[in-house]
Amino acid sequence: MWALLAAGVTGAAGCGASSSQRMGFAADPVISSGTYRSNGQQIFLTGTSASGSPITYQGGPSWMPAPMMMRIACATCHGTDGHGGQVFLFAQSFVAPDITWPVLTGPYTDHPPYTVATVEQAITHGIDPGGNPLDPEMPRWSMSASDLNDLVAYLQTLK
Ligand code: HEC
Repeated sequence: MWALLAAGVTGAAGCGASSSQRMGFAADPVISSGTYRSNGQQIFLTGTSASGSPITYQGGPSWMPAPMMMRIACATCHGTDGHGGQVFLFAQSFVAPDITWPVLTGPYTDHPPYTVATVEQAITHGIDPGGNPLDPEMPRWSMSASDLNDLVAYLQTLK
């Protein structure tokens, strides 16, 4: 049994910094229950697929231990609700953006809105819809086409 990395993401409505830092995402009731609404939700919350096919990544914060040493998921940085915020990982801090669907498909100042295809490109290649590379804190993910499809379908449910 592996342990989920507990990371505090502030920005959840009604949570002060100290309470959300204390409540790492492993304490999230959905994660603790081990049952998920969909494969996409499981990938988002745990970085694992219901099919058992591997989900790996490269990059991420330079100070983070190697992927073999720990498991991270989208929720580690973007929060269990996808709203992002200030992330505290190994005594360093950075901001992860809101990746709920209305935000992704809404206006940005520096590139066109995301589509399904360009969100997939951001997840797997770290490229935004304007063709610009995302910051290195965003890992570059590898997963099967069907897992990527399930994950993006789940992102479309986040508001
Ligand atoms: C270690 C922290 C971390 C993890 C884990 C992580 N991200 Fe990110 N992600 C970021 C950061 C930081 C950015 C902002 C990069 C930038 O501004 O250039 C980002 C950007 C994004 C963007 C582009 C948003 C925008 O505003 O342009 C998408 C989409 C995204 N992440 C989806 C995901 C998904 C899906 C997962 C899980 C498979 C994931 N991320 C896991 C840190 C993370």
